[in-house]
Amino acid sequence: MRSFAIAAGLFAVAALANPINVARGSKEPCDEDAAPCMTYDQATEVAANFRQSIKNYSNASTIEHFTEDFVDYSASVSTLINGGCVDGPVDLNAPTFSGREDFMAGQGAQPTIPFKILNLYHTCDTVVIRWRSQGPGQEPEPVTGIIVIEAEYQKGDKQNPWLIKTVYSEFNSGAWLVNIGLFTPTCPPPPPPTKRSTLQAPVRMF
Ligand SMILES: *[C@@H]1O[C@H](CO)[C@@H](O)[C@H](O)[C@H]1NC(C)=O
Ligand SMILES: *[C@@H]1O[C@H](CO)[C@@H](O)[C@H](O)[C@H]1NC(C)=O
Repeated sequence: MRSFAIAAGLFAVAALANPINVARGSKEPCDEDAAPCMTYDQATEVAANFRQSIKNYSNASTIEHFTEDFVDYSASVSTLINGGCVDGPVDLNAPTFSGREDFMAGQGAQPTIPFKILNLYHTCDTVVIRWRSQGPGQEPEPVTGIIVIEAEYQKGDKQNPWLIKTVYSEFNSGAWLVNIGLFTPTCPPPPPPTKRSTLQAPVRMF
């Protein structure tokens, strides 16, 4: 119920920001070219297309599912590219990838990782997902993130009516830096065993 309320809230905001989407039934003149509202199934498809670019990357599927002027904003990804270094190479406030070609050159070079979608919400033209990467390819720490995907309507394209145009993606890059060995945490030593657990522990050789 709560997610529905959030989705409904997002929908209301989107409707305000995007008056063209509320033209139907209002006093606004009808715009023949106005994009229809994205359906839940279409939103799921957009999310699956993005997931594929992470889990099962290919240039062909990227060309099929992303607009040519695609832009990806992710200070988290930029932090990984920079290895946590302050002086770049990527400006943390700038887009991580500008243009599909740039994304293909960068994303295509990444090893595949587990990527599970935990929640999905959508407005008329935007898909929001919460995801988790955990297990082989992403160990020992799980990484959880949130992505806002703005999609662009492709009039007359039955196969891919919504292409991924802009992505705002942030996640736990701290855990990821640990997993790829670029950050070694200084962890407190484990607490000394209590008398009871010492007694119950199996015999130790050292
Ligand atoms: C990976 O993507 C290719 C096409 O790009 C597809 O043929 C294949 O079935 C996909 N594999 C998985 C495991 O999703
Ligand atoms: C995918 O496209 C990028 C950008 O054009 C290119 O650098 C890369 O070599 C391509 N990968 C393959 C497997 O063709």
